[in-house]
Amino acid sequence: MLPTVSSVFVSLVLAGHALGAKFSQSAISQSIGAASFGNTVPNKFIVEVADAGDIPGKRSLDSRTTHEQLYDFMRKRDLGFTVEKEFNSPGLFVGSVVTLSDGNDAAKVLDIPGVQAIRPVKLIPAPRPVKKHIVTGLDDPQIPPDSESTHILTGVDKLHAEGISGDGIKIGIIDTGIDFTNPFLGGGFGPGFKVIGGFDFVGDNFRSNTPVPDPIPLDQCNGHGTHVAGIIGANPGNPFNISGVAFNASINAYRIFGCTGDVGDDIIIEALLQGVKDGNHILTMSLGGADGWTESSSSVVSSRIAATGKIVTIAAGNDGAKGSWYTSGPGNAINAISVASLDNTVIPLQNATVHGVQHDPITYFSTFPFPVNGTLPIFATSNDTTVVDDACDPLPDDTPDLSPFVVIIRRGTCTFVQKLTNVAAKGGQVSLIYDNGSGFDEIDVGNFTATLIQEADGVFLVNEFASGASVSLSFPQSGASFEFPDSAGGLISSFTSFGPTNDFFFKPAVAAPGGNILSTFPVPLGTFAVLSGTSMATPFIAGVSALLLSVKGTSPEVGLSARTLLETTAQRVPSSHTDGDPLQTLTQQGAGLVDAFKAIHADVIVSPGELITNDTAHFKSLQTFSVKNIGKTTKSFKVSHVPAGTALTFQPGTIFPADGPVPLSTNFATVKLSQTSFTVRPGQTQEITARITPPTGLDPTTFPVFSGFIEISNAEESYQVSYLGLAGALKDVQVVDDTDVFFGVNLPVLTDAAGNFITNTTNFTFVGDDAPTVLLRLTFGTPKLLFDLVEPDIKLKTTLNQRSDDLKPVADREVFSFPNVAKSGTFAQVRTLGSLFEADFQPRNSDEDDGTGFNTLTISSPEFANGTTIPNGSYRILLRALKVTGDPTKEEDFESWLSPIIGVDA
Ligand SMILES: *[C@@H]1O[C@H](CO)[C@@H](O)[C@H](O)[C@H]1NC(C)=O
Ligand SMILES: *[C@@H]1O[C@H](CO)[C@@H](O)[C@H](O)[C@H]1NC(C)=O
Ligand SMILES: *[C@@H]1O[C@H](CO)[C@@H](O)[C@H](O)[C@H]1NC(C)=O
Ligand SMILES: *[C@@H]1O[C@H](CO)[C@@H](O)[C@H](O)[C@H]1NC(C)=O
Ligand SMILES: *[C@@H]1O[C@H](CO)[C@@H](O)[C@H](O)[C@H]1NC(C)=O
Ligand SMILES: *[C@@H]1O[C@H](CO)[C@@H](O)[C@H](O)[C@H]1NC(C)=O
Ligand SMILES: *[C@@H]1O[C@H](CO)[C@@H](O)[C@H](O)[C@H]1NC(C)=O
Ligand SMILES: *[C@@H]1O[C@H](CO)[C@@H](O)[C@H](O)[C@H]1NC(C)=O
Repeated sequence: MLPTVSSVFVSLVLAGHALGAKFSQSAISQSIGAASFGNTVPNKFIVEVADAGDIPGKRSLDSRTTHEQLYDFMRKRDLGFTVEKEFNSPGLFVGSVVTLSDGNDAAKVLDIPGVQAIRPVKLIPAPRPVKKHIVTGLDDPQIPPDSESTHILTGVDKLHAEGISGDGIKIGIIDTGIDFTNPFLGGGFGPGFKVIGGFDFVGDNFRSNTPVPDPIPLDQCNGHGTHVAGIIGANPGNPFNISGVAFNASINAYRIFGCTGDVGDDIIIEALLQGVKDGNHILTMSLGGADGWTESSSSVVSSRIAATGKIVTIAAGNDGAKGSWYTSGPGNAINAISVASLDNTVIPLQNATVHGVQHDPITYFSTFPFPVNGTLPIFATSNDTTVVDDACDPLPDDTPDLSPFVVIIRRGTCTFVQKLTNVAAKGGQVSLIYDNGSGFDEIDVGNFTATLIQEADGVFLVNEFASGASVSLSFPQSGASFEFPDSAGGLISSFTSFGPTNDFFFKPAVAAPGGNILSTFPVPLGTFAVLSGTSMATPFIAGVSALLLSVKGTSPEVGLSARTLLETTAQRVPSSHTDGDPLQTLTQQGAGLVDAFKAIHADVIVSPGELITNDTAHFKSLQTFSVKNIGKTTKSFKVSHVPAGTALTFQPGTIFPADGPVPLSTNFATVKLSQTSFTVRPGQTQEITARITPPTGLDPTTFPVFSGFIEISNAEESYQVSYLGLAGALKDVQVVDDTDVFFGVNLPVLTDAAGNFITNTTNFTFVGDDAPTVLLRLTFGTPKLLFDLVEPDIKLKTTLNQRSDDLKPVADREVFSFPNVAKSGTFAQVRTLGSLFEADFQPRNSDEDDGTGFNTLTISSPEFANGTTIPNGSYRILLRALKVTGDPTKEEDFESWLSPIIGVDA
């Protein structure tokens, strides 16, 4: 159904007394302007029209006529509009981006013959890596001995050894642009270079304002796209000894972000369609925003492009901390490959050499050696190895000139930069901060030459110093790189967003290394950098896809089967390194870590790769898959069930989703197989049926999502099929928060402009900011959210917070029962006076106060959504939210809330 974004402005004008509540008043006021419904552009829509060829009797006309026809109809109906952009890719997307003078006219546009859909323009935030470290530059003398750990983990190294490196394949990267002047990305732009072409749709100064396109997609101010490009295509033989997964593939760069800021999905669609026109075999997008649904315009277009046999890879998102049902769009695109991130098993770090006493080399948290020559004595800012606030205050007057020393400081209390500033005030130039138990990781030291060392090493050095021993350190400029084992290495990166989508699609699909990745960066920003994110995992899969196409050809059949091939040959990932813990839920690892070598050399084809039972209300217990032998020898296999941890997606006994890492249960689904062993001759196919039964004995309020694998294996080889289901009904998940947990009052609630909660009749003049605001939180996604104006004495039993007000308690009033006789001006059998706002396919809110924690709707002027004035009088606002899988024509499938009486006194 279509979204009807009204002319009512969605804004945050709210404060609140939040005693004992999760969100504080100051936090609320800080977030003003940050949240809106689904993060859409007011009144701007993407209208899709039928291809000319699809309209009977219009076969001879070109599709230009279809656009004109749309505008003619709109003019005939007196709809005020401006055309922003036209799309004309028959088979993929034909339509226009229009700004309507009245957002509510969207419904009328949908009625026009030939109009297929109208969707709001969504805003996608700029890519934001989880971790960022800019390497000191090309003069960094040391080459890590093996920067290819990610290639070894995934078998890419073995494909490179066979000479497979993506020759003849074109990959379109839709991102911040690329600094192609980086010599390791070819050093130039256009035919004959690695970056063969592309387009800049926006220009440097774009911040989701008017784009200033130009033909050259150069990015020297952001860097994200340059890092992505290096993961696909960095030339080997560079000073850092890294290479792209498909370094012989060609790249087209489509720049859709300025140096900072968001982009609308209309521009993403423009880039996608251009990428198709330019003949790319693969399109990759390391971008997205919380969505939860498969319905946004850019998701739909991505999915259609993938359905033609192109490979589309899209990041799963970096919202793992926010728990399940929080997938990212357009990564949700049904036919695309949504990519999860795996932490690299090692972190390339450096060793310092200890002189004066016998001690092993000391590992310091830096990818490249400190630019320090010679051997420097150590100086400790405190001799006490338990001091909590070491060097947080200016160092004492009797401190010597620290310039000849390596200064040793204990972590704690104040920022690293503050400690280092105090040290620098005494001349200190090189410092090592030792851990206090907080964890050995990268730290923010500004532009100082300083980093973290482990606690035991620091305690050793300080004790030696305090005992008067003469200890010094040197920083070898070569040969001291050390592959420090990452304790979380080989696991899914905790930041990877959890699925599934609210309509129960299998997202993410597959994982690739994305944590601690060294790749190219714009020359002015350091040429190389280490970044982490699903943004880094996504181009890895694009690169693997290029290797696949370069071996198997670029026919649509190969593209269409790519996701299944990658899923059925992937490597299963555990949830922890502790024995006995289950495999990670497939809602975060997808089918597991990609195995490029196995995928490309498989001579057994298993299909489909995903068995989705859906929820218990739509349960598909019986699932069938096939195993085809495309090899030259007869093969025998065993079939077995390998369960993964069951994700407890809600906090028990509450209506709130569990935060990530999502708790896992070892109550698994049961899988009964039609065969447990079989033999297939060359060319033969074996069909297997699985009967999947949800796990029992789990708390139903946790809405457990079960998942796992069916393994098809023998001593030499192993393949798998993934399954996913919900032990519960989606329609039973509460959609709207009616608790007082977040604001200290039961939600939803009406507020005035000052943020006071309104519980009794209040008149509004709509002069200045004297206007009502509805504050609400969505604990789960909703396919349809409606705000309507109703009579103050409406007889309706609402589902949420039926409280007393200045009339009598709603629950005590006469209530009509369904079904009711539908009258004109009714929707779902409730008589309404008119729509104030409607939003479709809304994501749930998170429990973080970062702009995603709640929604507000301010009725800033006394007007219905269509611009018609609301006459003075008394009203209530009726809020309705459709439950997931609910029927929009059935009142009982909605949750509902009635506001106190509002007097319109304009
Ligand atoms: C680096 O230091 C660690 C810890 O002392 C040691 O185990 C490792 O062998 C060293 N490696 C090199 C290359 O110096
Ligand atoms: C270290 O020594 C090399 C060679 O002698 C010199 O080029 C470089 O500038 C020195 N670096 C520092 C930081 O002193
Ligand atoms: C280091 O950072 C400080 C504060 O950000 C700045 O004032 C200073 O110029 C920087 N120094 C260098 C060498 O970049
Ligand atoms: C720490 O110990 C050294 C060596 O004994 C001594 O010179 C120094 O003064 C001590 N520092 C403090 C702050 O006591
Ligand atoms: C799950 O069931 C719902 C309700 O029928 C449907 O809308 C949705 O598309 C299904 N999901 C999948 C992946 O089939
Ligand atoms: C309306 O509510 C306010 C704040 O809750 C309260 O101070 C006031 O007395 C109420 N007025 C009536 C008429 O109930
Ligand atoms: C609201 O306005 C109406 C009409 O002007 C008036 O009768 C009523 O007393 C007002 N109510 C309040 C609570 O101010
Ligand atoms: C706008 O909506 C109101 C309330 O539904 C309705 O009465 C009015 O006729 C509509 N106006 C137009 C121009 O459609």
